[in-house]
Amino acid sequence: MGQIRFPEGFQWGTATASYQIEGAWNEDGKGESIWDRFAHTPGKVRTGDTGDIACDSYHRYREDVALMREMNLTSYRFSIAWPRVQPSGSGSANAKGLDYYGRLVDELLAAGVRPFPTLYHWDLPQALEDAGGWPERDTASRFADYAEIVIRSLGDRVKDWLIFNEPAIFTLMGYRFGIHAPGRRDADAFLRATHTVNLAHGDAFRAMKAESPQARIGTAFSMSACEPAGDSEADADAAERWHQFTNCWFLEPALRGRYPDVFSEGLPAERMGIRDGDEDRMRAPLDVVGINLYTRSTIAHCDGGPIGLDAQHVGSDSDAAPRTDFGWEVWPRALHDVLVRISRDYDFPPIEITENGCSYADGPDARGVVNDTRRIDFYRGYLAAVAQAIEAGADVRGYHAWTLLDNFEWSEGFEQRFGLTYVDFPSANRTLKESGRWYGRVAAENGFEETE
Ligand code: FCB
Repeated sequence: MGQIRFPEGFQWGTATASYQIEGAWNEDGKGESIWDRFAHTPGKVRTGDTGDIACDSYHRYREDVALMREMNLTSYRFSIAWPRVQPSGSGSANAKGLDYYGRLVDELLAAGVRPFPTLYHWDLPQALEDAGGWPERDTASRFADYAEIVIRSLGDRVKDWLIFNEPAIFTLMGYRFGIHAPGRRDADAFLRATHTVNLAHGDAFRAMKAESPQARIGTAFSMSACEPAGDSEADADAAERWHQFTNCWFLEPALRGRYPDVFSEGLPAERMGIRDGDEDRMRAPLDVVGINLYTRSTIAHCDGGPIGLDAQHVGSDSDAAPRTDFGWEVWPRALHDVLVRISRDYDFPPIEITENGCSYADGPDARGVVNDTRRIDFYRGYLAAVAQAIEAGADVRGYHAWTLLDNFEWSEGFEQRFGLTYVDFPSANRTLKESGRWYGRVAAENGFEETE
């Protein structure tokens, strides 16, 4: 027991995403996104909710920034909605859409908070999906054009950028399993989508550096500690393949210009649409590796499996650890293990935790206080794991709690509450939770007492 301390200058922040909080889905010239289309299609979102209004951050962003100040935060990871900037995904910029992000950035800078935008957190312009979406190679070039427009507009004030949010998740959930927008279920489309995204990653990185050589650029990768379900060598091998696929399918091409070797029959290059020269085009020597991590994955060997990896996710003993209201295991060790492994395997790159958090449904009591002690326990455990990983040599520069506000949790609608701030839907009124107050003290003190 003792003090958990973080390095001097450590960034304390929260993360959000445009579709999950902004609302204003058709204002100021914004085009339709695949998430607008998906959520407007009955039966796609479990609760029938949409992001049409969400937290109304498009109009209430000043309140959001005031909450960050109240929590002593120094960094804000938000995302830019591509269809606000280019309503149909190509061509000239919509000035009103860009203006919104300019106002948000100015408000953040005035509050002493670092703006840390993500260019793509899943809201592809619907017009591009109609033209083939991520499985279509041309989408990579469209994306690079968009990246250039954004950095040209904000690059004088924004120095830290993320290109993609969780490429492994949006390609898999959107094109293979159909649980997220655009709701396709097609294994080949999924594989091609992953390759286009890797091309787009390299293209956007180069376009951004050409426009703004000093920019520090990363991507937020979804990661999980992949643990074998049993003691067999087969399970251990399966867990390793799962790690390479789920954690490194986009990182390895960016940093080393190649795909991890995970399929027993070799890389399905033809199905993926790989062409000569693509290896170099995928390269994006990122300045920072963003890691989003929530829990661990328990993996067993099986023949074939959902994505042909001869491995499957089997979950773990239901009572091995507490679970969040989303059913995700609270497993802080996973964050430590992934930070240490990625650091060792990729030569100790600068890392930012770009997301980590938990869903608990606690709401206001009779006095209006949201006493979400389970969330405080969650953050205590995971932050201690980050501190241990730093001690073990990981170069972690910042931490972003997911999330600032309860928001639209994709196909789960508003039911899963991940916020440090309680949001009353549909009024969108905000109340800082006790976890938010606790997190604010951690940020102010750059650490906490383990026994506190
Ligand atoms: C991540 C997403 C984020 C949020 C959290 C709970 O996969 O990046 O938008 O939904 O999960």
